Amino acid sequence: MTNEQIVLSRIQAESVLEAHRAGEAWATVSLDLGLTTAEAAIESNGIRLPDGQALTWKQLGKIAKSKRGCFVIENNRPRKIQSFSKAANRLYSLMPTTGAPTMLLSGVAMHRIKGIDPHRDTLRKIETITPIVGRVLDTATGLGYTTIEAARTAEQVTTIEIEPAALEVARLNPWSRALFENPNITQIVGDSFDEIETFEEETFARIIHDPPAFALGGDLYSSAFYHQLFRVLQRGGRLFHYIGDLESKSGRTVARGAIRRLREAGFSRVARRPGAFGLVVYK
Ligand SMILES: C[S@@+](CC[C@H](N)C(=O)[O-])C[C@H]1O[C@@H](n2cnc3c(N)ncnc32)[C@H](O)[C@@H]1O
Repeated sequence: MTNEQIVLSRIQAESVLEAHRAGEAWATVSLDLGLTTAEAAIESNGIRLPDGQALTWKQLGKIAKSKRGCFVIENNRPRKIQSFSKAANRLYSLMPTTGAPTMLLSGVAMHRIKGIDPHRDTLRKIETITPIVGRVLDTATGLGYTTIEAARTAEQVTTIEIEPAALEVARLNPWSRALFENPNITQIVGDSFDEIETFEEETFARIIHDPPAFALGGDLYSSAFYHQLFRVLQRGGRLFHYIGDLESKSGRTVARGAIRRLREAGFSRVARRPGAFGLVVYK
């Protein structure tokens, strides 16, 4: 399956409806959630997309009403991008923003979207450990944004995702395409807690650790896992550990415990990076 399908959210549907209201014959619209634009012909019943598919005004109206959904267009029909994980009993879905979409895990956004968008959120995380060089480990693939950004300069990036459902959503996300196309990226489907034991000592020059919130991903904040992070990171290497808002009560509490356990695991220095909602950890 390719991930070059046409994907629309309310933002694109609204712009087409606007062009229709204005009596235009063509609508300039993005078919990949804002990455590029294309032309769609406005017809009496709806629009004709460049690949020949058609959408009715009713279907476009439905997309325009959906605040939290993105839709892949298949056989002249919009299908909401979502995937249910039986194992985790959670629904993964793609939610639009005015920039890169985020993934919702049972309704909770996996990237920062208040006052910032997922792309800038990603850059802030990555900037804490630049230059990104050598081999990189990303312990939580998600939509692959941190992996994709790291792979721009790294020699190679290994990225681990526990949930096939998350990867199904990523596969339909135009902003995640490089995750499936960049030959410098190696994907592993598995639990980082177990997979990390399979790497040799000092394999990675950089590690990106962007787990779900503490309440959902406890193991990935444990002493045992931090010892493994220390073992696989090269001397002189750096790790970014996402925590959440360090100025919030819960962020402060989680950070305090994480810093203590990271030091116990052997890391020489742990620095707070409030702008990136996380910690930079040095070996
Ligand atoms: C906050 S998101 C990561 C976002 C990612 N850095 C990005 O840029 O899109 C966390 C991801 O970790 C995955 N995850 C949760 N527990 C995991 C585990 N034990 N091992 C690997 N992945 C895990 C979740 O399914 C989710 O997709």
